[in-house]
Amino acid sequence: MWRPAERIKWQPDPGVWPTRAEAAASRLFAPIALGPVGLATRTWVPAMVPWRATEDGFVTPEVIDWYARFAAGRPGAIVVEATGIRDIPSGPLLRIGDDRFVPGLRSLVEAVREASGGETRVLIQLIDFLAIRRRPEPQRYFAQFLGITPAHRAALGMAEAPEAAVRARLAALDPAALEVVLAPREIEALRKGHRERVTDTHLAHVRDLPRVLPDLFATAARNAEAAGFDGVELHYAHAYTMASFLSALNDRDDGYGGARENRVRLPLEVYARVRRAVGARFAVGCRYLSEDCIDGGATVEDAVAFGVAFARAGMDFLSLSRGGKFEDAKVPGVGEAAYPYTGPSGYECMPQYISDATGPFGRNVPAARRIRAAIRAAGLATPVVVTGGMHGFAQAEGVLADGTADVVGFARQSLADPDWFVKVRRGRGDAVRVCEYTNYCEALDQKHAQVTCKLWDRIALDEPGIRKSADGKRRLVAPAWREDETGAGGGS
Ligand SMILES: Cc1cc2nc3c(=O)[nH]c(=O)nc-3n(C[C@H](O)[C@H](O)[C@H](O)COP(=O)(O)O)c2cc1C
Ligand code: SF4
Repeated sequence: MWRPAERIKWQPDPGVWPTRAEAAASRLFAPIALGPVGLATRTWVPAMVPWRATEDGFVTPEVIDWYARFAAGRPGAIVVEATGIRDIPSGPLLRIGDDRFVPGLRSLVEAVREASGGETRVLIQLIDFLAIRRRPEPQRYFAQFLGITPAHRAALGMAEAPEAAVRARLAALDPAALEVVLAPREIEALRKGHRERVTDTHLAHVRDLPRVLPDLFATAARNAEAAGFDGVELHYAHAYTMASFLSALNDRDDGYGGARENRVRLPLEVYARVRRAVGARFAVGCRYLSEDCIDGGATVEDAVAFGVAFARAGMDFLSLSRGGKFEDAKVPGVGEAAYPYTGPSGYECMPQYISDATGPFGRNVPAARRIRAAIRAAGLATPVVVTGGMHGFAQAEGVLADGTADVVGFARQSLADPDWFVKVRRGRGDAVRVCEYTNYCEALDQKHAQVTCKLWDRIALDEPGIRKSADGKRRLVAPAWREDETGAGGGS
């Protein structure tokens, strides 16, 4: 993964842990309402795809184990991973675009309720994404994938030549000549793999996104409600369709791009349609970016305006992430697809311990503080969730005290130790297995391999009844915590 040039090595520092009494009196472990849904504490497990669904997008026993394990730590809320709203094959990513997915999802919800003694609220993240292809083998690209156009023929002086001859000539050109003959998007398709954009309005299915997406999201939200979830998180962040509408790179000229108020139009229309589709006791919010962190992308000023607009529209919460875009992603190898967390913006999303002078902890805090302040200045009380490098009690309490956020998201820290919440509440912070921010888990995610944490996935592999990865070398959920344990709770 990309890392800042400074290469400064940071150590996670959870600081002083509270006593049980201090935890009980803290902001972090105080309740909060997300619109109609009450959280027992202001702690949040953000969406993390663990790659455990079936190829058809159904819940598996491994998915259920994964969420039940988080629930055993009793966070205020868990957001189930990005779940596809369309009824199309999407590999082992959960799906929710049809009734047939509801029974499996209902089992997941029941498992969370049971493992948390009914305490943890459970939401599901709804995602739409556009097509992205693997980087092609160049010979195949020229022989098969590239559409031969009059522009190619003109550039090569081959107006009347048979198509096969044009293709053969293109395949023989050196990189500099190709820059002249191919259009920029064709060069991109050759060197990185073809990627659709929301601005490809010459494609009917892209032009029609504003017409079809509100209903697709609404159907998915209705299915989430039928499965018993407490709410949905509309995925308006990272590299996906809705974030691309919000991005300043969106220059659609159909009223859904260009000026800020046009870029936020579809996200507001989707929200309004979803809100109408579900009952009054169901929470609807979104995750979006406090900054795109790419050249020409949405800025924190955009995010301030979007936050006020979302809050004014009535969203029940706003969860802030940052970066994670395709535009600056690492060039993939032949046969691989680009992955949005491999460039500088990806670093902003999931910063690693090798960092710059700012460091990996709380990189989203200054932007979140500005966004929340603007929402409050507009007279709106919508809860804001901040995530990114949060691992200590004092750190979390600090962002609640200084007005940065109302709820604190712990993604990798809760993967490293799902019992963080229960341990800290019981005055047993000494037993927390602190995340090292190595991004071993993120590398697994990138390969679409079952995600685990390096701090626990080789522990007690002989424990009876545990599920393991396909090669038998890793356990799939963290070992249970016994309260009489000391040190890092059985971890390394
Ligand atoms: C394995 C993995 C999978 C992730 N999947 C998602 C996802 O489905 N949706 C999402 O919005 N963010 C996803 N993220 C990003 C996290 O929610 C979070 O924003 C990020 O890891 C930074 O927070 P942290 O420093 O607390 O880990 C994922 C992160 C990891 C490590
Ligand atoms: S593998 Fe574990 S320790 Fe490393 S970043 Fe992921 S959660 Fe943290």
